[in-house]
Amino acid sequence: MIHLADALRTPLDYARLPHEELVDRIAARKAELNAVILGHNYQRVEIQAVSDFLGDSLGLSQEAAETDADVIVFCGVHFMAETAKILSPQKMVLMPDLRAGCPMADFVTADGLRQLKTRLPEAAVVSYVNSTAEVKAESDICCTSSNAVKVVESFAPDRTILFVPDRNLARYAAQRSGRAYLTTTELSREDVDVPPGAIVAWDGYCYVHDDLVLDELAQARAKYPDAKVVIHPEARRELLDEADYVSSTSKMVEIAEQHDTLIIGTERGLIDRLKQRFPEKTLIPLSGAAICGNMKMNTLAKLAWSLDHQQHEIVLDEEVRSRAEQSLRRMLELSGGWKAPSAEEAALEEAGVRRSGCGCA
Ligand code: 13P
Ligand code: SF4
Repeated sequence: MIHLADALRTPLDYARLPHEELVDRIAARKAELNAVILGHNYQRVEIQAVSDFLGDSLGLSQEAAETDADVIVFCGVHFMAETAKILSPQKMVLMPDLRAGCPMADFVTADGLRQLKTRLPEAAVVSYVNSTAEVKAESDICCTSSNAVKVVESFAPDRTILFVPDRNLARYAAQRSGRAYLTTTELSREDVDVPPGAIVAWDGYCYVHDDLVLDELAQARAKYPDAKVVIHPEARRELLDEADYVSSTSKMVEIAEQHDTLIIGTERGLIDRLKQRFPEKTLIPLSGAAICGNMKMNTLAKLAWSLDHQQHEIVLDEEVRSRAEQSLRRMLELSGGWKAPSAEEAALEEAGVRRSGCGCA
């Protein structure tokens, strides 16, 4: 006779289990390992429901730096799990699916950044947290979507800044801080002049946000003329110029609290969550196509497998890790270190969400 436990070797085996059994297994194993589940706002609703902490990149890194757990299971994308390991090297950090990478982070390599630094040796290097540990190790400071302007403004106005890898967030930070802006593609022209204090942005982008277009916004506005508009700063400038608010994913939760009708320009996962939290409100996705397939690679089945088998463990070279930690710590110090979840975030976590999902691995 085959025992069930023997049969549960791969995530696909777990995908055959009923939803409730997966949820129970996750809870039991989590208690046994003294583990914490950190989930990004874009996760599937069933992953959000079992997460101990949900948030944006800044909140998640603050939580990863402070948690008392022995094991961190990260439901997000690879750079987020790496960030947790950088900040908590003594802990075991697990990811349910190693293929859940962030294509934007892959735009820039440490080698590419080193070459850029030789072109502008006096410049400060700001890396968006959506980057590899090796890139963070080559940087002076990190930033997230919620503190990019503050990080940029921490440098003297005439200091040139290399900003990697998101050209859109860099442009937004340049606009907000009154700095000149150019991309690495423009820099590669022989005759280009870099004005003092300019932000030189790596020409990378997020495929989910860069694809948001003005036509969709115009259509949504025509249908909901009284709606306010909030857009993530990874979107293009022409979209951001039209927005009432530009904010990180967690800040969008607070903005949704204040408005009955809101057009939201970001990934679907956050909007699904807001709709459950505020069923009485009209929350309109700016685009139905804004789905991050990488974030959605994490499933409940893979999460249960990850805890049971303590896989996939994030391992980092210590020299790279400690240099990357300095860039992250500088950012955290500038952002007030760790902050307790807001009342709204706590309410969202407690609210509970739909127990459904396709269950595929
Ligand atoms: P937030 O830090 O705003 O959650 O954004 C992370 C991200 O990957 C957005 O695409
Ligand atoms: Fe990366 Fe964009 Fe997905 Fe965020 S939404 S994880 S930036 S690809």
